[in-house]
Amino acid sequence: MVSPTQADQDELVDAILQELSTTPYAASSLTQLSGGSTNFVFRGILAHPLPLPLPSRSEPEPQPDPTTGKTIIVKHSRDHIRGNKNFPLAVSRCIFEQSMHHALNSFPSPSSNLKVPHHYLFNPRANIQVIEDFPDAVDLKSILVPPSPSPTTEAILTPTVATCIGHDIGVWLRSFHLWASAPAQSALRRELGQNEPMRKLKRLASYDSFINILENFPETLEGIRKPLEEVRETAAREFNKPATDDGGEYWGVIHGDFAACNVLVSDVPSLQTNNPEAPKLVIIDWELAQVGHWAYDLGQMIGDLYEQKHFRQVDSAVWIVRGLVDGYGGLSDELAFRTAIHVGVWLLGWYNRRHPKLPLKGTPEQIAGIVQLATDVILKAWAKDRTWFEASVFAPLFGGTPA
Ligand SMILES: Nc1ncnc2c1ncn2[C@@H]1O[C@H](COP(=O)(O)OP(=O)(O)O)[C@@H](O)[C@H]1O
Ligand SMILES: [Mg+2]
Repeated sequence: MVSPTQADQDELVDAILQELSTTPYAASSLTQLSGGSTNFVFRGILAHPLPLPLPSRSEPEPQPDPTTGKTIIVKHSRDHIRGNKNFPLAVSRCIFEQSMHHALNSFPSPSSNLKVPHHYLFNPRANIQVIEDFPDAVDLKSILVPPSPSPTTEAILTPTVATCIGHDIGVWLRSFHLWASAPAQSALRRELGQNEPMRKLKRLASYDSFINILENFPETLEGIRKPLEEVRETAAREFNKPATDDGGEYWGVIHGDFAACNVLVSDVPSLQTNNPEAPKLVIIDWELAQVGHWAYDLGQMIGDLYEQKHFRQVDSAVWIVRGLVDGYGGLSDELAFRTAIHVGVWLLGWYNRRHPKLPLKGTPEQIAGIVQLATDVILKAWAKDRTWFEASVFAPLFGGTPA
């Protein structure tokens, strides 16, 4: 693992400031943000604040916000992940992200509370994007699991607020999936169908690795290898088809990295009051946008939430799942089983979501528990065992209350 040094970092900041200096987004300083792990993401203070109001999407009159327009997000992509020069990652991902930002300008958001950042500028030579900043927003994962040490280690979301957030995410995701699979978006599907490197990455991190992960727990794998291999082969067939082939009812452009860390929530203090305003949500980080099954978005987010419930006892995560499925308009049995398989595969991916030199996250009981939970949910979904789901913690996938 080769991490960038402080000198590399300083050089990068200078180079980006230089690139921006001849644009309307010249910045006086850049502060690196810690939220993501893949790109170099900074908050920049603009030398000349942007005029207000900002260019509007198809949404009601934007309310001028005194902080808006003074800062920008600057996202710089390299051909490797941020913390490790030896982990290659196709830099073309930022081209697809900016394509999505552009395309989403014509996406009629179901509510003015649900947004995608405006895209201001793309510098393809230096792989720099300048994006609208939501300076008071915090990502949903940090709200569920505040980074330690933190003054608030208590869960801050009541069941009502958590359900409301989940509901809004579900409403947004449904309308995005429908919009992106409509005939009018065929050009977008053709374009995003070319984000092959990110499609490969998604496959590698999910269906190509979950059985290998289970090899580390041979007692769990005993007797269940065959159905798991069927799951893997079915997914492989799907990934081997050109993305632009007709993939059926639940197929189209997906976000591709739909997880709690990529949903920003504004005005967090108001969530702690009993009577909050409807939370304002921002969906960020579109570089894995690709053509695929809707279950990949649903399953990743839901799996991510169950992971927080399992390892940190974050009950509000399951309330978010309930709201999400409801806001999505419910899931047909077919979509629910398919989503559940992806939930299990995502949960097993926990094994690789750490620095390879660090020990596994969790107590021995939690580790054994997550492996069992994940394999159960995959196998029961593969067998379409709805009765098992209705009596389990995953009941919300079928509209029920978790057991
Ligand atoms: N438009 C934005 N407004 C406010 N904060 C943002 C915005 N975009 C990104 N961030 C912050 O930067 C972090 C990393 O951004 P992200 O696009 O997710 O990059 P990565 O691809 O590295 O995950 C986010 O988790 C969030 O904290
Ligand atoms: Mg991110």
